[in-house]
Parts: sequence; structure tokens; C-alpha cells
Amino acid sequence: MSDKKNFYLTTPIYFCNANLHIGHCYTTIVADIIARYKKMRGYNVKFLTGTDEHGQKIEISAKKNNMQPQDFVDGIVEQIKNLWDLLDVDYDIFMRTTDPKHVSAVQKIFRQLYDSGDIYKSNYEGWYCTPCETFFNERDLINNKCPDCGREVEKTQEEAYFFRLSKYQDKIMEFIKKNPDFIEPASKRREMINNFLKPGLEDLCVSRSSFDWGIKVDFDEKHVIYVWFDALLNYITALGFMNENNLDYEKFWPADLHLVGKEIVRFHSIVWPGILMALGIKLPKKILSHGWIIIDGEKMSKSKGNVVDPKILIERYGVDAIRYFLIREINFGQDGTFNNRALVNRINFDLVNDLGNLVSRTNGMIQKYFGGEIKNFEFIRNEQIEKICFDIVEKYNNLMDEYKISEALVKAFELICFANKYIDEVKPWNLFKNTTKKNELASFLYDLVEILRIACVLIYPFMPNTPKKILEQFYLDESYINFDSLDKFGVCNKNVRAKKSDLLFVRIDIEKELEELKNIKK
Ligand code: MSP
Repeated sequence: MSDKKNFYLTTPIYFCNANLHIGHCYTTIVADIIARYKKMRGYNVKFLTGTDEHGQKIEISAKKNNMQPQDFVDGIVEQIKNLWDLLDVDYDIFMRTTDPKHVSAVQKIFRQLYDSGDIYKSNYEGWYCTPCETFFNERDLINNKCPDCGREVEKTQEEAYFFRLSKYQDKIMEFIKKNPDFIEPASKRREMINNFLKPGLEDLCVSRSSFDWGIKVDFDEKHVIYVWFDALLNYITALGFMNENNLDYEKFWPADLHLVGKEIVRFHSIVWPGILMALGIKLPKKILSHGWIIIDGEKMSKSKGNVVDPKILIERYGVDAIRYFLIREINFGQDGTFNNRALVNRINFDLVNDLGNLVSRTNGMIQKYFGGEIKNFEFIRNEQIEKICFDIVEKYNNLMDEYKISEALVKAFELICFANKYIDEVKPWNLFKNTTKKNELASFLYDLVEILRIACVLIYPFMPNTPKKILEQFYLDESYINFDSLDKFGVCNKNVRAKKSDLLFVRIDIEKELEELKNIKK
């Protein structure tokens, strides 16, 4: 039996009706960073993502494309999986809500809650936003439009099943108050308490009878189960809940982290706990909300026609640069603006000038001063350098453990900037001129390689390809991307070698590039 600690984290499952844009990618990239970090720290990680494949808007999209809904979603799922591959998202489970195991578990759960009286039949009358697949009361609407996406809502009147969410109102409130870290950031927690729990919860409509594409209520086939009820349950059905093979459920539930965009916190921190309470199941440990990627002052979304295609960006700049940019530019938890100029500037300044330059300077000096190989030198320990590295590592870990990932990335780059300054201070070109300083010079270059090794570990969760490329330049293999050796200095072999290599990142002519991007957009 493994004595590793388990860690279960999830992204929302993606609606299957459109090409995903860079805003969607943000949630998954953040989850991938946290998963890679936790794996590196020795956790037994399950990272779940997937697709939300039912509902009215998918039925409509399929019809528009003259396709059966199942064929339509199959095609989109392939595209989504390809995108995650392109972005190096290393998930452990990909859950589809059309998976028969999920379907049968959801039906069993629905029936169980009906039998226990937590689901009952009635009539729904109110408003519905099809793009958001969300019910609203008249008082929720803003200028008669959807309060979440601003689009038209439809008056809906149909026979429906309801979930007794109101019954769990006090218990949910009590749980949120007792567990101040359950919803983060705190501003979201306050919003949930003040805007939803205090005014009082209403029962939630959990079936639709006016269209077809969904999981059927098996004892009343006129009804399909409301897409959000179906979708939220994926977090437990993916682990085998209500299936013969539920070992993962026993091992990994409750989830350590549900990562969600800010507009779906209510579903995750109020509706989901209500359903779990009704099932008598433990609640997840944390709902962590992130902000939106904004473009021209608005949320990036297909309906606004302002989307940025991740594939084009990856093709032009490489996946690590895109991942770096999104995390560095958007302070995690807050909204952040996407713009091409900022992206190219980050590549030129942070990746070319800071990181790329440190690597090529270190490599170049080993080649120039030692012909590419430093042998037989005596390592002179520099405690000050070691302390700086260990301090940065400690702060980085604290930030990562608190999910302050943008700040952790900045910390990692502090080490890179420090190393560049260290070169300027030591002035190795002077040491080279002095034949008695050869050992000092060798030891200094060894320090730089060690700093690079540590930096590689720190940036690895964010930029999974770059560390390998850096280490290769010094004939070091991937085993050096090892968290356990972060508390040591002097890990690399004392026979330091460097080989002629391509530049890690190439400077971009910003004005020319912006012009080209403009043409692509046209
Ligand atoms: N299907 C539901 C989730 C069900 S989970 C039980 C859903 N899907 S979604 O495709 O619309 O959104 C998936 C994720 O992408 C959400 O976390 C959402 O916040 C995120 N983003 C979509 N547009 C975004 C931006 N412009 N910026 C940042 N994230 C955004 O919601």
C-alpha cells in the first residue's frame, strides 16, 4: 500500500457547444499547474477534467449543424482533448457526461433523492438562459436580461422536478461559516452569504420536459435531468460513485479542490453542497474561484465575438510562453486583460531577457572560458547564495500551498533575476583574465548551473517543456527536475559541461508581430 497522501482536484467540465477560447484554457492550465506541483511534492494526485455534453443549447447547436447530438458532441470532445494535449494539460481522468457509467449513476442518484423526498414533482414558471443553462427569477434579471451573460432569457413554463435546496439552507450557511476557507477568495464567500444565502434559497428545478437531449429520469421518461444537476455529479461519478468499481471514490473523495471560474461559484458552493448533504456525503474541501480573461473591457466569450484562439498562439509562441503569460499577467483570483502587446512584451522581457539570457550566458561562459567542460575544480561553498535559493524555495512553496500561483511564479523568476545580477556583480570576465582565479571562476559557473537546476524545478509546473531544454544544454537529464533535492545546493555533477544550443526563446519584433496578428484577426 502506498503511504502517499491523496489529492483530488477538478476543473469544471466544459460545455460541448463551441470551440474553446483562451479564457476556457485558463481554468485548465491553472489546474494542471497545481496538479503538477502536487505530484512533484509526492502526492498521489487525481486530476479530473471533462465535458458537459447535455442540455438544450447543445441540442440546438447539433440541429444547426444537421447532426445528431451524440455525433456532434463526439466531434467536439475530440477537439477539446486535442487542445488539452497541445497545452500539455496532463489530466488523469477525462469524464464525459454521456459516459454510460455516469448516466446510470445520475439516474440512480435522482431516484434515490426522489424516494427520500428531496426531489418532488411540480411546475416551473420562470426565466431561463439557454447559453448559461440557468434558471432565473424575475427579480434576478438585469434589464430583463441574463444577469450572468447579458443575453436574452426565455419565459419558461413546464412540468418539472424540483430539488429541495431550501431545506439545506441553514446547514449550508452553517458549513460555510464554520469553514472559512471553504470558498476562496473571501470576496466570493461574502457574496454567496449576502446575495444568495441570506435572502433565502429556493428549491431548484432539476428536470426539463420541453426538449430531449439529456439523461432521462428513468421513472418518468418525459423528463430529462437538468444539465447542472447532471454535470455537478461528475465529480463523484468520475471516481466510480454508484458503480461496482468505486475504489477511487473511497480513496479520493472528498475532493481537495474544485477550481472554478467566478460565474459558477454559486453552483459549486451552494447547489453542490445541498445535493451532497441530501445524499449524506462529505463536502469538498475547497471551492477556489478565479477571475475572467477580459478583452477590450469585456469577458472573452463567443457571444461577444472577442475570442482569442489558443491554437494560433501556441503555434506562434509555443505552449510554455502562453502558459507563462496567462499566469504572470493575470493575478490569480482577479480579472485580467488579454492583449497581444502585453503577451509579446512578456516574451521579450521575461523569457528572452531574463530566463533565456541567463541560460545562454551561463552556457556561453562554460564554452568560452573552459571549452565546454569544467573538470577537477574545488567547489567553494557560498552560503549567501545557498540562503537566497533556499529562501526563495520556501516562499515559493508557501505561495503554491496557498494557491497563490501568480505570486509563486514571480518568486521563481526572482531567482532568475538574482542570478543575472550575480553575474554582473562577480564579473566573471575579470576572473577569466586572472590565471590565479580559475578555480573561483569554475566554482562560480557551477553556482549558476545549480541555480538553474533549482529554477527549473520551480518553473516546471508552469512551463513543463522549458526545464528539460535548459537541463539538456548542460547534459543533465529530467531526473534533476526533482523536488526532493531543492533543499540541497551542490547536487549536479562537479564535472560541468555545456553544449552549443539553440536560443531558448527568440526575441520578437513587436511592431511587426502586432501587424501580423492584426492581419490574422481580419
Ligand atoms: N459546464 C459548465 C461547468 C459545469 S461543472 C460541473 C461551464 N462550462 S464552460 O465551458 O462554460 O466553462 C468552463 C470554464 O471556463 C469555467 O471555469 C469558466 O469560468 C471558464 N471560462 C470561460 N470563459 C472565461 C474567460 N473569459 N476567462 C476565464 N475563464 C473563463 O461553466
